[in-house]
Amino acid sequence: MTSTNDRFEAHRRQLAACEQSHLLDFWPELNEPQRADLLDDLDQVDLERCRPLIETHVRGRPRFALPTRIEPAPVLPVAPDAANAELYRRAEQLGADAIRAGKVAAFTVAGGQGTRLGYDGPKGGFPITPVRSHCLFHLFAQYLIGVERRYGTRPPWYVMTSPSNHEATLRIFEAHDFFGLDRADVMFFQQGQMPAFLPDGRIVLASKHRLALSPDGHGGSLQALRAGGALVDMNHRGIDYISYFQIDNPLVKAVDPLFIGLHITLNSEMSSKAVSKADDLERVGNFCLADGKLSVIEYSDLPEEYTLKRNPDGSRRFDAGSIAIHCLSRSFVERLTDDGSDVHLPWHRAEKRVTTVGSDGIPVEPDALNAVKLEMFIFDAIPLASNPIVLYTPREEEFSPVKNAEGVDSPATARRDLIRRAARWLESCGCTVPRGADGEPAVELEIAPDYAVDAVHLRERLTSPPDLTAGSTYVLE
Ligand code: UD1
Repeated sequence: MTSTNDRFEAHRRQLAACEQSHLLDFWPELNEPQRADLLDDLDQVDLERCRPLIETHVRGRPRFALPTRIEPAPVLPVAPDAANAELYRRAEQLGADAIRAGKVAAFTVAGGQGTRLGYDGPKGGFPITPVRSHCLFHLFAQYLIGVERRYGTRPPWYVMTSPSNHEATLRIFEAHDFFGLDRADVMFFQQGQMPAFLPDGRIVLASKHRLALSPDGHGGSLQALRAGGALVDMNHRGIDYISYFQIDNPLVKAVDPLFIGLHITLNSEMSSKAVSKADDLERVGNFCLADGKLSVIEYSDLPEEYTLKRNPDGSRRFDAGSIAIHCLSRSFVERLTDDGSDVHLPWHRAEKRVTTVGSDGIPVEPDALNAVKLEMFIFDAIPLASNPIVLYTPREEEFSPVKNAEGVDSPATARRDLIRRAARWLESCGCTVPRGADGEPAVELEIAPDYAVDAVHLRERLTSPPDLTAGSTYVLE
């Protein structure tokens, strides 16, 4: 085993060569465990990879290079027109067959820091369902059990965490006995980290013995799928299609036969779902054809001359908003992350407030933006895929993310939307749902995803309509 001294020496030389020696300023004052922490943090930083980025993205400020030609992306409609009816019918069948044959896995990116929600712990542990207060992890686990009930096969689940929430995530699954799943069918792996930088290019020291490290963005999930052994595991299990979604959206159809079937039948390597934007400036990525290539341009990068544009019939020209639901072919992820691959997702720069250690060794909380963080985004892989497609999905059926503590995209709006959806599903089965004067359901409703994964499934399972009274709570489980 390499001794602390040897590790220290190796880092000292490399840090000096990269003008980062300040990271060892407090070394003489550190005790053994603190020295071990610092060396562990340093092990995580790839200085060679950081060096050019410091020039281009930290000292330099790359401006988003707007493509010369930006056009709306072609998007498959929610309901097929006559020309597409047969395509959708076949696709749904094909997708269901792929699920039955065990070729589909669920993949959740849950490595983010969830700063905006202000919840102390991994976001997946946040209680979200309106009646039973099940957490997001529980909800998705039940969804996979529901998929088994519907298609006879339970997809395995890959969960990406990050070093800051990995242990806490495992504890949540342990404490709930894996929410009824087989342990062997849930695989956790951690994404990579990047250090925060001061504007002059120095890596931020957060305390005397810790670097300011944070996850490298959900775009880091591609490399993490390989490095964490998930791709090999998928290969052994015969998984060909990866159903990707974020931890923050309780309405997501975690595994959707139509979407997967369209991906397969249209020979797409990476497919995406979109919603019609709630308003021109909604803070979601925009699906565009950028110089002829299907791409997502973040809301912050697309100028208003595009976002406000109208079609001749008055409809929004750039209407398709990204909801971060994708289907990726395993072979595509393998191709992008292969040792010989020279494909790299671009880095995005964000200015943040980051705690830094003062010269006296005391950490200082800044009151203004003082550092730069770099992240990769998964949607930057879309233009690298062959035949990428986008499918519209109804917002009220599939998108209500939990991002903020209050207001828009909060736990309150997500619970409201879960109840509204449950009410619609029940009504589509002929049930009477009491509604208030404002038209909102007057019952706190919850349909467990392991009871039914969608309205059609519910219709198949519901033998007698429940008797719902205003002001009550009701769980279908
Ligand atoms: C994201 C998308 C936006 C999309 C919206 C839909 C970006 C930059 N924007 O916005 O286009 O319309 O979702 O809800 O992504 N995560 C990791 N590791 C990381 C960072 C994030 O696993 O290093 C995970 C989080 O746990 C979360 C998800 O990615 O599940 C979203 O991250 P977040 O940074 O909150 O994205 P948004 O800005 O909300």
